[in-house]
Amino acid sequence: MTKKRVAVLISGRGSNLQALLDAEQDAYEIALVVSNVPDAAGLDRARERGVEAIALDHKPYGKDRAAFERDLDALLIERRIEIVALAGFMRVLTPYFVRAWAGRLINIHPSLLPKFPGTKTHERALAAGETEHGATVHLVVEEVDAGEIIGQASMPILPGDTPETLAERLLAVEHALYPRCLAKLAAHLA
Ligand code: GAR
Repeated sequence: MTKKRVAVLISGRGSNLQALLDAEQDAYEIALVVSNVPDAAGLDRARERGVEAIALDHKPYGKDRAAFERDLDALLIERRIEIVALAGFMRVLTPYFVRAWAGRLINIHPSLLPKFPGTKTHERALAAGETEHGATVHLVVEEVDAGEIIGQASMPILPGDTPETLAERLLAVEHALYPRCLAKLAAHLA
């Protein structure tokens, strides 16, 4: 099986990117990392592994999201990318980009979707009195955090948990989940 060429889009720390790099396996290779934030720490994680890492700052594009996405799309096509994995990429993508990559664009979200789409998922899980929390890897569709679920992993919420302790514990769950789901999609695509 030829490995699927994956681009990971990030905006910051990149710990999920690191997990994807560490777990690279038969089904996929991380061929490119793109950050919309020029000084994102995740860019260095990629470069340390010899993976091409490009900063594509969204700021010069102002409100023209379509122009930013056209340049991003052109870059992905030029590098012969087959799957795009969002890993802490903090920009909502427009229908243009989502349609162009439909079925090959995935995201990791820090909640057990369909519970708690959007932001502040840890705070909201605690406020709702949930007894468990988790992460979801899903296909990206136009509606935010609403696409087909590829995989989920959960963990208990413990007495005394705060949004910070939950976020920290959940990261380890995410790091185990994301590579497994990416490999599943890569193996499934023709
Ligand atoms: C992760 O917890 C990820 O689930 C979340 O951002 C964090 C990125 O951390 N993503 C979202 O909230 C997407 N809406 P990382 O940069 O260390 O991977």
